[in-house]
Amino acid sequence: FPLQIPELAKGTVLMRERSKVEETIQAMQRAGAGSLQVISDFDMTLTRFAHNGMRVPTTHNILDNRLLINEDCTRRIRELLNTYYPIEIDASRTAEEKQPLMVEWWTKVHELLIQQKIRKDMLARAVKESSAMLREGYKVFFDRLAEHQVPLLIFSAGIGDILEEVIRQNHVFHPNLHIISNYMDFDRTGVLQAFKGQLIHTFNKREGALLHAAHLRELQGRPNVLLLGDSLGDLTMADGVSQPQNILTIGFLNDQVEERKESYVNSFDIVLVKDETMDVPNAVLSYIT
Ligand code: C5P
Ligand code: MG
Repeated sequence: FPLQIPELAKGTVLMRERSKVEETIQAMQRAGAGSLQVISDFDMTLTRFAHNGMRVPTTHNILDNRLLINEDCTRRIRELLNTYYPIEIDASRTAEEKQPLMVEWWTKVHELLIQQKIRKDMLARAVKESSAMLREGYKVFFDRLAEHQVPLLIFSAGIGDILEEVIRQNHVFHPNLHIISNYMDFDRTGVLQAFKGQLIHTFNKREGALLHAAHLRELQGRPNVLLLGDSLGDLTMADGVSQPQNILTIGFLNDQVEERKESYVNSFDIVLVKDETMDVPNAVLSYIT
């Protein structure tokens, strides 16, 4: 590989247009760390999809702990997952068709969670007791970006309070981090009473990008973007960047691989098939910075 990035030659790496990827990485390298921002999804992008044959929980599923919710609520949230997750990843439906169904899923789950009177002071313990896990190589990823003062925007349709706790417990909550997500709203006694702001689901990240990311001062003047996601909906996370110059998108294809391979290769610049590591993003970043 001409770019001296051997990680890109791995069999799990798919690229529609290798030469375009090379040119983009080279342009980003010439512009340097001062022109770069990283925009990443959280669940199943910064966290692992599976470990030892077991699914790793998303931020929503980390709440599945008797400290926070009862058995009946667990059962109902699982039923909703079994109904809506196959729709979320269905290769035969468009994002537009999925939108209202995702709103339905998130709304129903958030209502169930609010009924459970979840206590803020129990969240850290629930995260500790969960099998939440960031991808292998996460520390190099977070530490390098902090070291080079490259802003990392985490843009998640999961639950902000939970993802912050996962990052904190893994000791990588650095000052270059910015988070856009669904945050819990607690009453004066520390009991969950609502979710703040406009709902973010997998297929409305464009609205969130225009509403929030576009106004983050720390992201201004950084026209080069490395974008990481695991859903086609994640591709709109950079829509708030004003006057972008080079955008390199990396997609983790974790599930329904054969059904979705073609659409992922057509949509992301680099597709990583069943890769539970940060090796490729880390290699690209080490070349650029
Ligand atoms: O961080 P990210 O944007 O990936 O978070 C959203 C993910 O959380 C979705 O991909 C979805 O599968 C998952 N989810 C879940 N339970 C819910 C809602 C979403 O596991 N109730
Ligand atoms: Mg995700």
